[in-house]
Amino acid sequence: MKVCVAPASTKTGRAAIDALLKDTGQHSVVGIYRDLGKVPEHFKWHPWFEARQGDVASVETLNFSGCDVLLTMTPPFLFTSDDPVATAKEISDNVKEAVLRVGSIRRIVYISSGGAQHESGVVSVKDVGAFCAALAVDMKISESTSYPFIVELHGPKAYSPEDVEPLKSHQTGAIYQLSI
Ligand SMILES: NC(=O)c1ccc[n+]([C@@H]2O[C@H](COP(=O)([O-])OP(=O)(O)OC[C@H]3O[C@@H](n4cnc5c(N)ncnc54)[C@H](OP(=O)(O)O)[C@@H]3O)[C@@H](O)[C@H]2O)c1
Repeated sequence: MKVCVAPASTKTGRAAIDALLKDTGQHSVVGIYRDLGKVPEHFKWHPWFEARQGDVASVETLNFSGCDVLLTMTPPFLFTSDDPVATAKEISDNVKEAVLRVGSIRRIVYISSGGAQHESGVVSVKDVGAFCAALAVDMKISESTSYPFIVELHGPKAYSPEDVEPLKSHQTGAIYQLSI
């Protein structure tokens, strides 16, 4: 099975590709990068990986040809777009048009952009990527499953910004302090 990840340069996209390529020889992966200079070294030379230049913000650059599955998400625009909802819609329309153009994609795994507003259940991007990669290639989700098939992914427990603070400090060596 050939799985396309777009955009591949997101942290979640990278985690998904990592998970797919660990499944040695099972799946090939096409990563869509707006800047090919950002393809991680360990992907570049992987025999089951192909990087293609493309930007989800520009429909004519998107080439999903030969792919069976698309794993996609909207890059975060909350702080960079005047109208994040309109930008997200524009990007989704671009991806939809590119999917229809190739006609070979039988499954789309779309990662919602809005999960972070939930009161509980924050999950690391590494786990989200790996979980979505598994969903993308899971043959048990058959044609008879009703669509859209919505999966809610929750963390093992709720945590607050106060819980994150010491972790950030531990990871970066810097002292973080929360203030309102
Ligand atoms: N629902 C949930 O629980 C959940 C969990 C995880 C992620 N997500 C969603 O998945 C999406 C990705 O999250 P993330 O944390 O993995 O993202 P991220 O790493 O912060 O993504 C930012 C990267 O997107 C890339 N990108 C590609 N095309 C872009 C474009 N046209 N405009 C701007 N940036 C572009 C940029 O990389 P380059 O500069 O290298 O191109 C940028 O550095 C978000 O929408 C996020 O909300 C949701």
